[in-house]
Amino acid sequence: MKPNQNEFTNGATHTEKPPLVMSALKTETMSAHKQLERTNYFIRLFEPDYSIQEYRRLLCRFYGFFSAIEPLIFENLTETQLSVLGHKVKVGLLAKDISLFEGDEAGLQNMPQCDKLPRLNSFARQMGALYVLEGSTLGGRIIAKRLKEHFGTEILDKLNYYNCYGENISVEWKGFQSFMGSQFDDKEAEIPDVIAAANDTFLCLHQWFDKP
Ligand code: HEM
Repeated sequence: MKPNQNEFTNGATHTEKPPLVMSALKTETMSAHKQLERTNYFIRLFEPDYSIQEYRRLLCRFYGFFSAIEPLIFENLTETQLSVLGHKVKVGLLAKDISLFEGDEAGLQNMPQCDKLPRLNSFARQMGALYVLEGSTLGGRIIAKRLKEHFGTEILDKLNYYNCYGENISVEWKGFQSFMGSQFDDKEAEIPDVIAAANDTFLCLHQWFDKP
């Protein structure tokens, strides 16, 4: 078994139907996702005069959000859950990317942190938030490609977050889908909570990105 693979990531194929909880999440958060994509930080990514400093600012915003929310998402998980999800923590990848910018010696200590976060007081709500953070790696494929085309070799070492799973992205996503199915498809009553937390997370992230 390769590193990061486990019972939820090692045999999934692309033809399998996603579990109920994942189909519901996709449908019910589509509008929040679209609205987030339309914020200035993401529109700018695809404009011809996009600068490397803007990319740094995008990473810093993400850092301010991930560093605040990830401890809440991964808090109180069981060892079994952590063995499947533990490698999904991404704040270290963002920190690494930010540290690679020249003149960034001031470090991350003074980086603003998001203080308006969704309520994550149950496993269902924690997983709704994780869905949003994990899903950002899917759009990340498009964004990493765009950044490489726009900036060339200068950007290659600064894609640790956006390219975090590399070639394994589909396997990771299928594994996450399968894990979510194993946790929620026989607990349908909890699915509305998962969805509500995912939408709250999109909203908090949106507000954080809109903040001056
Ligand atoms: C310019 C910015 C973005 C673009 C162009 C984009 C694009 C995409 C695309 C194309 C997919 C579908 C990929 C696939 O099915 O293989 C996707 C999925 C997703 N993205 Fe984004 N995205 C962006 C930003 C974000 C951000 C900032 C987040 C959250 C932090 C996010 C969360 C998600 C989620 C949760 C999914 C999974 C949807 C599902 O259930 O299938 N995206 N995105």
